[in-house]
Amino acid sequence: MANVLVVHGPNLDLLGTREPEIYGRVTLQEINQRLQEEAKQLGLEVRFFQSNHEGEIVEAIHEARGWADAIVINPAAFTHYSISIRDALEAVQVPVVEVHLSNIHAREPFRSRSVIAGIARGQISGFGVGSYLLGLRAASIVVSEPRA
Ligand code: DQA
Repeated sequence: MANVLVVHGPNLDLLGTREPEIYGRVTLQEINQRLQEEAKQLGLEVRFFQSNHEGEIVEAIHEARGWADAIVINPAAFTHYSISIRDALEAVQVPVVEVHLSNIHAREPFRSRSVIAGIARGQISGFGVGSYLLGLRAASIVVSEPRA
């Protein structure tokens, strides 16, 4: 069974009440629940990690080495400037799927730049909780067809 680490960046712990017109009303716990169900269907084992701290995310990525076959990450605001998260993802050599609830290309111009995208296998943006579900599917494709 393949293993997938799902990482949620800063402020995503507030989902449900945070700017619901942009991010919807689904809570992080509900997203993780949906992912858990989807993982079962896909035959994946998933673990979840959320932090508001850049260094903790870097360490969680380091710890994923040796366990995770893929990482699905919503780096949230760190998407736009965290070279240390990008470097950590590159260092552990685990395939990465970048996901965003909102369409980062249709918002403020600063959000359309991702420093993560260049080292990710791909990016899914704009489908709410669906971005995570599609991201998990993408991860299952990546682990079963590494060079697809
Ligand atoms: C986000 C988009 C980011 O620009 C923002 O900082 C977030 C959430 C999204 O999921 O749409 O916190 O990553």
